[in-house]
Amino acid sequence: MRATAVRCRIRPMQPDDISMVLDIERQSFPSMWPRIAYQRELKNKMARYLVIYQPIEDDPAPEEPPDAAERGIGALVRRFLGGGPPSREPILGMVGLWCMMGEGHIVTIAVQKELRRQGIGEVLLVAVLEAAMEAGQEVVTLEYRVSNQAARALYEKYGFSQMGVRARYYSDNQEDAVLMTTPPLRSSLFRRLLARRIEEQRSRWGDGYPLAGGFARRLVRPNGEQGIAR
Ligand SMILES: CC(C)(COP(=O)(O)OP(=O)(O)OC[C@H]1O[C@@H](n2cnc3c(N)ncnc32)[C@H](O)[C@@H]1OP(=O)(O)O)[C@@H](O)C(=O)NCCC(=O)NCCS
Repeated sequence: MRATAVRCRIRPMQPDDISMVLDIERQSFPSMWPRIAYQRELKNKMARYLVIYQPIEDDPAPEEPPDAAERGIGALVRRFLGGGPPSREPILGMVGLWCMMGEGHIVTIAVQKELRRQGIGEVLLVAVLEAAMEAGQEVVTLEYRVSNQAARALYEKYGFSQMGVRARYYSDNQEDAVLMTTPPLRSSLFRRLLARRIEEQRSRWGDGYPLAGGFARRLVRPNGEQGIAR
């Protein structure tokens, strides 16, 4: 029997997701946000939290050719889920953004440990950049621990550059934080880079590309009602 392809999707985080999000937090950060912080954040009108998940679909995903079934993101997610239909949508990663006076600030981004280096982090990053653009932000900033080279490489790949250092910012180990910013989101330089990266993502994910179909357009509705604001 041929394996079923994995379709991943992105949507706003919901209160029911918090337990799985906390599992990812536990694997990812030296100090965790408590449940109450997420509960509050999901009501924060300035915040947008997104998750990437595997939907439980009535309509089964297309079957993969035998060679593709044993490699790539699909095979990895299947191994991660341990076979059989999950009882609820598994959350594979999450990202959070604050929007403040034209500046989007990424407050968290993390992927299930077993699923890293498969392109999920960069899909989340594009989704949150799109969400920032749709919310009218001019730039996106963030900070990372100076020792976190995976994060640095990810952000540089998407055009972020260093704008400063906050000495001993992290209280658990007194580590410095490096501050980064994108160029203006609407600059042609940044748009071109993003378009190139999205093309690379499309060819990597094929039919299962989680951002296919204009993700950002679905997030912010034309009447200004924001699908992801809570
Ligand atoms: C940072 C993180 C979200 C990246 O997610 P991911 O799904 O593993 O990343 P991707 O597979 O999409 O990688 C995209 C790019 O990021 C960079 N990257 C990711 N992991 C890397 C690693 N371990 N070493 C070096 N570069 C890395 C690479 O440039 C990579 O592009 P490439 O595949 O063309 O080399 C993930 O490592 C994570 O959850 N870490 C723990 C939480 C964390 O540190 N978050 C950041 C806080 S600032």
